Amino acid sequence: MKLVVGNWKMYPKTLSAGKKIAEAIKKNGTRAHLRGRRGQIKVVLCPPACFVAPLLGQLKRSPIAVGAQNAFITDEGAFTGEISPAALKDLGVAYVILGHSERRALGEDDTVVAQKIIAAVKANLKVILCVGEHVRDDAGTYFTEVGKELRASLAGLPKSETKHLIIAYEPIWAIGAKALRAALPKDFREMSIFIRRNLVDRFGKKAGFAIPILYGGSVDDRNAEGFLSLGGADGFLVGRASLDAEKFSRIIMAAQNSR
Ligand code: PGA
Repeated sequence: MKLVVGNWKMYPKTLSAGKKIAEAIKKNGTRAHLRGRRGQIKVVLCPPACFVAPLLGQLKRSPIAVGAQNAFITDEGAFTGEISPAALKDLGVAYVILGHSERRALGEDDTVVAQKIIAAVKANLKVILCVGEHVRDDAGTYFTEVGKELRASLAGLPKSETKHLIIAYEPIWAIGAKALRAALPKDFREMSIFIRRNLVDRFGKKAGFAIPILYGGSVDDRNAEGFLSLGGADGFLVGRASLDAEKFSRIIMAAQNSR
């Protein structure tokens, strides 16, 4: 199955604009779902937290799932401003993005990410864990950086919970409007083999091979196909292009058409 996840970050600025984008994606996404074999693709929209409930309502009878961009390390308590994973689940949220580099840049470290992952899987949410290096160098130290981040973020996660786990490889230098460029499919392929090896070391062959690895970082409708065919990606975590219904729909179609 290919997974196509839209990370809207703090956009759009109004609910009405968000609903418009979601409506267009729903139309095209539903068509893609219907055209494909059952379970061939899954589309997830992760809007800003304050739009999660209205979008869940809007997308209720569609194949498009709604995800959150963050959740807290525990289900309950006196934690002003935090979001309970259990409350998200109760609303109907299916996925949560954790460990995104933009949250890590705000001070979230691997220990907190690991705690959040455990709380999220306990609440029965599917976790999209983001990992990726800051820069690339000729010596290849970025492998060490990603390996360390991956292992530390997965600390304490039992093998039995890996069915809830998805990895998104997002090199930081490839993310956002200031990105140098997207990674190349061969960069992704190489890194996903490395990530896969780490997952197999940590969870064993069967569980390690079953965890999807997505690519994220300047994905658009022109480069998506290459990541699928040459890179072997299990799908995408899409930022900017997921706010453009036409572009995002073309990315969905690329995933739908891939084997
Ligand atoms: P981008 O963002 O597609 O705009 O580069 C990706 C992400 O941050 O998940």
